[in-house]
Formats: sequence, structure tokens, C-alpha cells
Amino acid sequence: MFKSPSRLHLIGPSQIRENMRIALEHQAINLAQGRPDFPTSPAVKQAAIDAINHDHNQYSVTWGLAELREAIARHVKERHGLTVDPETEITITCGVTEAIVAAMLALVEVGDEVIVIEPAHENYVPAVYFASGTPRFVTLRPPGYALPLDELQSTINQRTRAIILNTPHNPSGHVFTKEELLAILNLADRHGIYVVTDEIYDHLYYEPSRHVAPSTLAPNWTSLVITGGLSKIYAATGWRLGYVLASPEVTAAIRTVHDYLTICAPTPFQYAAVTALGLPETYYAELRAVFLQRRDLTVRMLTQSGFEPYPPQGAYYLLAGFAPWEHQGDSSSFTKRLIAEAKVAVVPGSAFYYQATDLGSRLVRVAFAKTDQVLQEAGENLRMAFHQR
Ligand SMILES: Cc1ncc(COP(=O)(O)O)c(C=O)c1O
Repeated sequence: MFKSPSRLHLIGPSQIRENMRIALEHQAINLAQGRPDFPTSPAVKQAAIDAINHDHNQYSVTWGLAELREAIARHVKERHGLTVDPETEITITCGVTEAIVAAMLALVEVGDEVIVIEPAHENYVPAVYFASGTPRFVTLRPPGYALPLDELQSTINQRTRAIILNTPHNPSGHVFTKEELLAILNLADRHGIYVVTDEIYDHLYYEPSRHVAPSTLAPNWTSLVITGGLSKIYAATGWRLGYVLASPEVTAAIRTVHDYLTICAPTPFQYAAVTALGLPETYYAELRAVFLQRRDLTVRMLTQSGFEPYPPQGAYYLLAGFAPWEHQGDSSSFTKRLIAEAKVAVVPGSAFYYQATDLGSRLVRVAFAKTDQVLQEAGENLRMAFHQR
């Protein structure tokens, strides 16, 4: 009989993709996965088509096309004033997902601890386990999801190797303030800990909140490992493109991992990514304006159908309580009930909380990267199901 290796016993299947499967069976509206249902920009699509037609269909250099690394270096210089050397400090990966796993495999020894800020995106804890590390948790709590600095301080010890920091934050929508980031970076600096950032939603914040790149505040950039990607901001989740910026020493380790994991990211899409990074500032301003409307629409429709949403400051998710539904059970059984009764799929909060499981059992995550029509339909279904319950 097949017996899986012990490191996998610590990792369950993704609850998000599990819910997606059940949602498909019931033909439910999918507010579960962070998968945009609006098209990639025409210029960016054309650039991918052109790259394929020009026969850019073979492996690229392992760490990524020089043009793309240069475009990323320009992007972070213009936006954050950070100077990175595309030759030695940038690696193109298959999404932030691979970037995080590669960063953990490059940094973490057996016995090392990695601090994960929960609620946490699903891939961080498996990444720590893949690297034979031990996750330790610091909990963000509603309504503000602010950083509990004391808790962070008391979680750090001599075995702490890294902190994973996602801002703007999935699933809470918290955008870490300058003060919170400074506190994390100073603590990390004092204890010699790496800060691995996940800034995949960097352009997606709702004023007056603004994304502050941790690199603009770090006392020492060499203790940062910065990840970002194209999936969300350019609506290209299927292209599997991300990047990691790190010091030359850390980059060399990440490139070794990346080489044996995937060889390289998809070449034609790397060409198209150069075009994506060259889109004008108006692209991002429009993205934020559209998502602000969707956020407000989602908050309204949830409030009218028995939810208690916490409006996000960034990214395109929110967490909501569901006490008015008087559901006898946890968030996992509640999401299954919603699929059956309202034909709407969301994700149980328990998918994101590891330590404060009581909190996760009382929340659901709603993804609003959907057209207004889909959001309105979902709102209608939820309202009806709530009133008929
Ligand atoms: C915070 C965060 N990081 C990473 C990812 C995955 O990114 P990618 O598609 O680049 O692998 C997601 C996707 O939902 C996410 O929300």
C-alpha cells in the first residue's frame, strides 16, 4: 500500500481548490478562488502571441530573460527607489508560489523556525514544511487586523530564520502601515532574521491606504527577500510568472533551487511580461478604481444577506463573519451549506488560521475579482438563501 512521506502528513489538500471542485459540481458562482474573471490587457496578450510566433518557445536562461529582469529592476527603481542588479539579484520564477517555496528551500535548515502571519495564504506553511522548517504563528485579528507587535516579539527566538510578510494582505485585505513595517524590519534586523515579502497585490490598495514597499524602509536590504508576480495585477494567473529579488548570495541559492524545480519560467510569457511592466500608470489607477467599486458592492451585498464583512484596505478579498445565519457548525460546513443553498462558493476561514482556529471557524473569505454582474448575481442568491433559511 502506498505510504506518503512524513513531511506530507503535515499538509492537507488545498481547501480553496477543494471548494472549487464542489462549486463546479453544483455550478455555483465562484467567489472562492482569487482568479480574475476580466481579460488580460490586449497589448500584453498580443505580446505573448508575438513571442510564440517569433519562435521564443524554448527554455530561457534559468533565472529569466535579461529583458524581463531589466524591466523589473527599472520598475522597482522607479516605484520604490530600490537599486537591484538584474544580473545577480533577480530570479524569474513560476509565480510567487514557486518564489516562496524556492526562498524557503534556499534559506531554511532543519530545525529553523519561520514566522507566518495568520490568517495566511495557503502556500506558506507547506513551503516551510517542504524546507524541513517549523512554522510559528502570529495572529491578526478583526476588526483591524493590525500587527500584534508583542506577540511577534515573543515568537522570535534563536531558531527564527525568517518572517513571511504579505502586504497588501490576503485574506484580510490589511495593508501594513509604515509603522508596522518598520517595527517588523527593525526586529528582524536586530535578530538577524530574513524578511520574505509577498507583494503580489502591490498595486491594489484603496485610498487612503497605500502599499508601502518594505524595501523602502529596511535598515538593511540584504536581509530582505522580495517576491512579486504578474498573476493578479495583470489578470494572468495562468501564465505562472513571478520574481524574487534578493542579495547575490541568497539569489545564488534561490537560483540553484529554481533550476532543479522548474528550469525556467515560461519563455513566451516572460516576453509578454516586459510589455505588462511597461503599461502606463493609468492602467493601475483604473484597476484600483474598478476594484474599489467591486469592494464596495461586495460589502453592500454581504451586509444585506446576513454577513458581517470587514472592508479590506487592499487586495481583492475580504473576511466576513456569518453569525446572523445562525449556522450550527464551523466555517467549513457553512461554506458547503452556501454552495448547496445559495449556489455561491466562498472559502472557510479555517483555511487561513492555524493557531487561532476558533477565529477561522467563524469567518469566511470572499474573493471579489469578479465582474459586477457576477457579484450582483451572487448577492441576489445569498439574499434569497438568507431570507428563506
Ligand atoms: C498572497 C498571495 N501570494 C501568492 C499567490 C499565488 O501567486 P502566483 O499565481 O504568482 O503563484 C496568491 C494567489 O492567490 C496570493 O494571494
